[in-house]
Amino acid sequence: MKLSKRVEKIQPSATLSVLGIAKKLKGEGYPVLSFSAGEPDFISPKSALDAARDAIDRGETHYTINSGIPELKNAVAGYYSRRFGLNYETSEIIISSGAKPVVYEALQTLVDPGDEVLVFAPAWVSYVEQIKMSDGRPIAVDTSETGFVPTVEGVESKLSPRTVGMILNSPNNPTGAVYDEATLKALARLAEENDIWVIFDEIYERLVYGDTKFVNILNAAPGIRDRVILINGVSKTFCMTGWRIGYALGPKRLITKMGDIQSHFTSNASSIAQWAAVGAIEGAEDDAERCRSRFAKRRDILVSLLNGIDGLRIESPAGAFYVFADVRNTPIPDDIEFCERLLSEKFVALVPGAAFLAPGFVRISYACGEDDIREGVGRIEDFLKSKRAR
Ligand SMILES: Cc1ncc(COP(=O)(O)O)c(C=O)c1O
Repeated sequence: MKLSKRVEKIQPSATLSVLGIAKKLKGEGYPVLSFSAGEPDFISPKSALDAARDAIDRGETHYTINSGIPELKNAVAGYYSRRFGLNYETSEIIISSGAKPVVYEALQTLVDPGDEVLVFAPAWVSYVEQIKMSDGRPIAVDTSETGFVPTVEGVESKLSPRTVGMILNSPNNPTGAVYDEATLKALARLAEENDIWVIFDEIYERLVYGDTKFVNILNAAPGIRDRVILINGVSKTFCMTGWRIGYALGPKRLITKMGDIQSHFTSNASSIAQWAAVGAIEGAEDDAERCRSRFAKRRDILVSLLNGIDGLRIESPAGAFYVFADVRNTPIPDDIEFCERLLSEKFVALVPGAAFLAPGFVRISYACGEDDIREGVGRIEDFLKSKRAR
């Protein structure tokens, strides 16, 4: 029996498979330290847990309106108005089972077979596969020589008559880069001149450190509102990955079509989880800030320890919770081999850069405790020392 050509082209999520291997080894009793997680290790805020319990007690256990409960859309609209001064009607907002499905629904809505979508490499694993799942062609624009920040020249070199859109992600997974206002203005101008969509994934917008300021693309370039889909959710800001709630804000015409797709796909996000998200957005500002400052401290510890290792030179990333380290000057310059051997010999799990279209780098997540960070970096140092000694 045959499988579709589409699935033959799809790669599983590399980050989830590394996490799976790490969890399996741990289950078998090995002393595994995982730096592969793309999720905060803190528990969800009390206001979210309470709102979920209340929803269960009220019997909110049925299908909801497929694009999301009005209470959550209102909470999202209020958040965007308070935080960015951006006004969205509830008809311009869709709630989904995580941010991942809304990116997919947006691509399903925008991409015809053979259409090209620009992604900026290093790029989050799922963009590339989701574009392929939508029968489009992912076109990578390399940012590894420009501080992981897109440039006008880079974009222009990859634009073609088949380009329908670009996916921007700031703060960035896997690099932690945060795009400044000038960059976003320049990219917005290119989008306008070439009449293409911009999917702006700002799922890590609250996780920005030091003097860096997060800039929403519509604050940089309000004139392109009609061609922008904002992607966000509660997973990272409110430590709620398991609840699976994400959302998109964009032009009504597009959001309505995304809702039509969703109505034949997941129907609606979990009713209880939607109420939990209302609880978080309306009652967990302090928790979000506490979580951010703990990440800031971990980032500083991780970067300073890594910079103590021979052959590694790390710039402190401005956002998200990842360090993207160049291993090309270490005794194991191949990122896949580096990760495989580090896991089998020292039980430390990292994600190879190849998974993000960036061979020669490894992604180290600092969404784990400070003791684990110290112990893990110690093991990485021993690992590299043992290779040099040969
Ligand atoms: C850049 C980026 N966008 C979207 C998502 C998906 O978020 P969610 O867990 O809400 O689906 C992730 C998760 O790792 C991510 O890193």
